[in-house]
Amino acid sequence: MTDQTIKIGIVTVSDRAYRGEYEDRGGPAIRQWLQKGLVSEWEEEFRLIPDEYSQITATLEELVDEAGCHLVLTTGGTGPAPRDVTPDATVEVADKVLDGFGEKMRAISLQYVPTAILSRQVGVVRGRSLIVNLPGNPKAVAEILDELFEVIPYTIELLE
Ligand code: MTE
Repeated sequence: MTDQTIKIGIVTVSDRAYRGEYEDRGGPAIRQWLQKGLVSEWEEEFRLIPDEYSQITATLEELVDEAGCHLVLTTGGTGPAPRDVTPDATVEVADKVLDGFGEKMRAISLQYVPTAILSRQVGVVRGRSLIVNLPGNPKAVAEILDELFEVIPYTIELLE
């Protein structure tokens, strides 16, 4: 990881968590994973938004273009249900799609659950930022980050 403090956007995309019908567990799972210490100097921008395409694109644009996040991790909305549009909105704001991220994340999750095949999660570049979709399941968040994170600092360095 670079010496500078890295700014990390954490975005929970969930209609029900947004409406307060249940507690957001995806966002805290990302935070807890980061607090384990692999990233030494980081600060967080957190957003909780509903599964609305235009709100997802606007949030990602704001976190990258205005807040200056080096990395944005989303959780939720990656599945096949009608309201699951996080990957679609992520690709909409992308300069480049890094297909390997989606392939690797599904490969990781398939070690745990066959339903990993249902996640359409992607990794993309916007400007100098890396945006990565994680599923909403908090267990999935940790399982994926445990194996994926080794390539993230290098990816961010390449974008500097
Ligand atoms: N990946 C892991 N590691 N663990 C899981 O439990 N759940 C799957 C999949 N990926 C899962 C997983 C399921 S059931 C779905 S529907 C998709 O992620 C999409 O979840 P999302 O819509 O909450 O993003």
